[in-house]
Amino acid sequence: MQAIKKIKETGGTHFIDESLFTLIAQDINQQGYSIRPTAMPEALINTLYMHQQAMESYKFKEAGIGRGKEYLKNEFVRTDAISWITGETNAGKEWLNWIANLQSFLNRRLFLGLFSFESHFAHYRPGDYYKRHYDAFKGESNRILSIVVYFNRHWLASDGGELVLYKNDRDKEGTRVVPLLGTIVAFLSEEFPHEVLAAKRDRYSIAGWFRVNTSVTDKVDPPL
Ligand code: OGA
Ligand code: MN
Repeated sequence: MQAIKKIKETGGTHFIDESLFTLIAQDINQQGYSIRPTAMPEALINTLYMHQQAMESYKFKEAGIGRGKEYLKNEFVRTDAISWITGETNAGKEWLNWIANLQSFLNRRLFLGLFSFESHFAHYRPGDYYKRHYDAFKGESNRILSIVVYFNRHWLASDGGELVLYKNDRDKEGTRVVPLLGTIVAFLSEEFPHEVLAAKRDRYSIAGWFRVNTSVTDKVDPPL
């Protein structure tokens, strides 16, 4: 299979490197998660990084758990600040376009039936954290696959701020991921508890979730 795919769009022709998608699909197939250090396309990462740095602070609000009516600010669980990505900006469009290619690739390879995607920039200030949690609970959510990418240059082990991905409820050790520029993490949302440890520096990332198109319980849950 060719790794570089030519994509024709109204904006012109560009090329998508599918070799990273292949690795992510293989990892998910084998172990349910993928950790790929500094693997994201550099141009995309730079665009997103510059956009996040330029975004004015009013666009960020304190993160809550859930959205809409379920919005609840809960300082005990998480303290980061977030900004949802809507695709109104060029950086947002580039990100969502890359994600759309990943989505169709994973659907072809793994038959995941991914239908929609939501994501936000996140800024953890020094001392911010996100306690151990699941992104989705079995039967209660249509979040299927979680994605996190990082924008932090020259991150040292002593800076802290690792994502710790646990294999299950009993796992106390987990796998630590350094939030280094260009690293991408993907994991099945219902399977892996995880947490973000407090950092000594500002920590920048995007977190996103692919959903399937089913309404859960009696709620209608439309895509963004
Ligand atoms: C989240 C999350 C992980 C990270 O936003 O749900 O778990 O490393 N983020 O930022
Ligand atoms: Mn999470």
